[in-house]
Amino acid sequence: MTSNFYPVAKIEDLPPGTSQSIELQDHGIALFNLEGEIYALDNTCPHAGGPLGEGSMKGDLVECPWHGWKFHIKTGVCQKHPSPSWNVPCYEVQVADGIIHVAPRDREE
Ligand code: FES
Repeated sequence: MTSNFYPVAKIEDLPPGTSQSIELQDHGIALFNLEGEIYALDNTCPHAGGPLGEGSMKGDLVECPWHGWKFHIKTGVCQKHPSPSWNVPCYEVQVADGIIHVAPRDREE
């Protein structure tokens, strides 16, 4: 099934090694530029709601700015409690003409 992608940010505003928080359809999403590849996770930390897009990137991981839990940027897997209930949802990303596009997830959770 083909997803619908929506423009959310300019690639020039997200240099390698940086992240940012954006909103798509009233949902917070964290964008990451990991060595030139763009990834998107849910922006809300499953521990207590910290904004992952404002966390610090350490290799393939992002560290939540509130209490330091770490999540894999490519998979959303929680490093502290690697079980599905603590993982962060991932979003599909495309980059075209310098614009980052993200596909919203189906709301079934
Ligand atoms: S809110 Fe993210 S580690 Fe606590």
